[in-house]
Amino acid sequence: MDFTRRKFVQTAATSIAAAGTLLSTTGATTGPKSKKVKVATIGCGGRSNRDIPNFIKACEMLGLEAEFVALADAFEDKAFEQADKYGVSRDRCIVGWDSYQKVAESDAEFVMLITPPIFRPQHLDTLVEAGKHVLMQKPVAVDAPGCRRVIAAGERAKKKGLAILAGTQRRHTIGYMENAAKIENGAIGEILGGTVSWNGTVPWIWERQKGWSDADYLARNWLNWAEMSGDHLGEQHVHNIDVANWYLGRTPQSAIGFGGRARRESGNNYDFFSLDLDYGDGVHIHSQCRQMSGTYPRVGEFFRGTKGEVQGGGKLKGVDVSIPEFDIMDKDGNVQELITWIKSARIGNPINEARQIAESTAVAIMGRYAAYTGRFVRFRDLMDNPESEWYDFKVSVQAEDFEKGSIVLPEENIVPVPGDGAEIRRRT
Ligand SMILES: NC(=O)c1ccc[n+]([C@@H]2O[C@H](COP(=O)([O-])OP(=O)(O)OC[C@H]3O[C@@H](n4cnc5c(N)ncnc54)[C@H](O)[C@@H]3O)[C@@H](O)[C@H]2O)c1
Repeated sequence: MDFTRRKFVQTAATSIAAAGTLLSTTGATTGPKSKKVKVATIGCGGRSNRDIPNFIKACEMLGLEAEFVALADAFEDKAFEQADKYGVSRDRCIVGWDSYQKVAESDAEFVMLITPPIFRPQHLDTLVEAGKHVLMQKPVAVDAPGCRRVIAAGERAKKKGLAILAGTQRRHTIGYMENAAKIENGAIGEILGGTVSWNGTVPWIWERQKGWSDADYLARNWLNWAEMSGDHLGEQHVHNIDVANWYLGRTPQSAIGFGGRARRESGNNYDFFSLDLDYGDGVHIHSQCRQMSGTYPRVGEFFRGTKGEVQGGGKLKGVDVSIPEFDIMDKDGNVQELITWIKSARIGNPINEARQIAESTAVAIMGRYAAYTGRFVRFRDLMDNPESEWYDFKVSVQAEDFEKGSIVLPEENIVPVPGDGAEIRRRT
């Protein structure tokens, strides 16, 4: 990346802000033109500890000033902890399962949804209705109806001029952006196949504490429950699947695969998955993910084409092609995505990543169903075929149940067994 060029873009963007282009004039923020960017966060956990400082930095780089009008969480301790950490008054904390509704009624212009994935479709729907620009962290659903609900909300956002960002930071990281452009312009020819992987460890487990309700336990330990997270195939590996869809310019048609559980002692996720994603025209991508400590930790993407090959956002061997220069202000995609989101909203050319992340999430869900049952599962059965059993299939816990107080905790340490009688579940 040419530093001089980046520096220039940064200076130019800052002077745009200074000239008033990025100042608030429309949308949920009314009143005098202001450098203030009113923002709310729903979900005060690990990722918001990155998105909050990154949002502040993104605003500063644009010559703007972030003002947190609400920090919302299901639990008071989580909201207060982040309010204290980032110097936000505790009066601005909103607590409870319905906190997203109160954020929708607030004067926030931008809202960051950083809760467990099960809540994403419901929360996005409500916030788009309320006219907010939304960052919805990936993945964005845990079942096919959820994915389609996100796509529908994304289409409504387009009509309303709202900017929707997905938290897939690779799409805003310069190495990936340049490789995607080179591939589009023929640098590696037609992609013939590849592999995408996330092999790591279990990020964390929250053991159940005395006094917690089933809802509390599910929401605090959500990462380890397939109903809440979509399993780690969706929760984590969706990043790599999203790169495959992006570079290939399409979603896979079907999946077969397998997975299993050997070590984990919490929730009901598998430990590992291995899938064949069939993209049609003889193109297959191996999708592989594992969360087990002490195992080989490969995370990344590799694609072979008729004229070359590429490693994710890294080395590309192929033919020379020209690509456009990108308007990048920060080489960290986690910051750059927020810059792009805010800027696109303020200049009235809103980014909208709802469909692409809903589709990548749906690919992960297709893979999960294929591995859990041992069956051949088609993408269109989740997204376009109401006759299919997968089209309306919903996980047993739904976002609405938390507000209704009607949570039924799935059986813990019981996982699906594929093959004949796939409904049989095994205690691990
Ligand atoms: N883009 C990335 O690289 C990246 C990295 C980490 C996490 N994430 C995503 O961010 C999201 C959150 O992950 P995390 O690691 O911050 O989890 P976390 O558990 O640390 O934080 C989630 C917070 O949401 C709160 N919460 C749960 N249900 C809620 C509800 N209904 N309403 C309001 N608050 C609720 C929890 O109390 C918790 O404080 C996930 O979708 C995850 O996949 C993305």
